[in-house]
Amino acid sequence: MQKTRVLFVCLGNICRSPSAEGVFRQQVQQLGLLQLIEHDSCGTADYHVGAAPDARAMAHAEARGIDISDLRGRQIEVADFSRFDLILAADRDNLARLKALCPQALQHKVQLMLDYSSAWRGQEVPDPYYGGARGFETVLDMLQDMSSGLMEAIRRR
Ligand code: 4NP
Repeated sequence: MQKTRVLFVCLGNICRSPSAEGVFRQQVQQLGLLQLIEHDSCGTADYHVGAAPDARAMAHAEARGIDISDLRGRQIEVADFSRFDLILAADRDNLARLKALCPQALQHKVQLMLDYSSAWRGQEVPDPYYGGARGFETVLDMLQDMSSGLMEAIRRR
């Protein structure tokens, strides 16, 4: 079977996209699909290159049994558009930033993360950075739903 490579993208790569990667990584591990699915996350901005995830994002993920403390921030690079099969943006602003950087022939790879969610399809994962605890919980609810739909879509590929 062909390997699938998924890249999760937000603005800073310290809240939403490392959380998305952590949720998805846990599902990949639980399903024993490590040989078939690769994942990574990055930001469209360079504010947090080399940084660990936001402490609140780590704590809320940890409370759901998901450890994201090993992840480190990096910025999108043009090579990512050929390296990955699916490049999933947290919101429309970052979707537009990605589309502006992506070569024309690869634009189909760039999609909205919640296109794979059943409960929040087509919506944006709201930036929790300036908000409170509730925001981080909502983000995880959305990402867990998205991750299941994404896994199903990959299985059908
Ligand atoms: P993220 O959240 O895009 O989900 O990682 C943010 C993190 C940092 C900033 C903005 C959003 N910032 O402006 O530093």
